[in-house]
Amino acid sequence: MIDIENCHITHIPAKVLAEPAKPVEKIDEPIRKLVDKMADIMVEYKGVGLAGPQAGVPLRIFIISLDGQKENVRAFINPTVVCDGKTVTNEEGCLSVPGVFTRIRRYKKCTVTATGLDGKVFTEEAEGLYARALQHEFDHINGTTIADKMSTVAKIAHRKKLQELKDRQENENQ
Ligand code: NI
Repeated sequence: MIDIENCHITHIPAKVLAEPAKPVEKIDEPIRKLVDKMADIMVEYKGVGLAGPQAGVPLRIFIISLDGQKENVRAFINPTVVCDGKTVTNEEGCLSVPGVFTRIRRYKKCTVTATGLDGKVFTEEAEGLYARALQHEFDHINGTTIADKMSTVAKIAHRKKLQELKDRQENENQ
């Protein structure tokens, strides 16, 4: 059961962001509603991608819209992202790590295989921002965020912001 009404953006160190998500078993109405809700959250916070755990739903699903527009949202269900070759380091942010922009090394190119909302499996080669977004979102469904990947130097530079997020989480759990 997905509680669509209660889906909202999650921030680190929420547990749902730190654990591998579970496969989607069936692409049904709740999944279509979830994608629509995730798209709304992504647009609201001006992102270009969002993964299930970021909406509080521990499922292997993410969306990407490189221009941030809802009409260009694509869903990737039970995806695999395979990377190889050269890497490139670039600034990255994450809606679940608000206020932190940090340099993250990613592969320049990758190949994604996923099921779409129409139930069809597709495979695509990606590069540039698309490849970076795929790797970022794939990390999310495996329980990893940019806060886990950032350098020690960056962690020190952002320690105040990271501590703030931690404190906020503790307050919410009380
Ligand atoms: Ni993110």
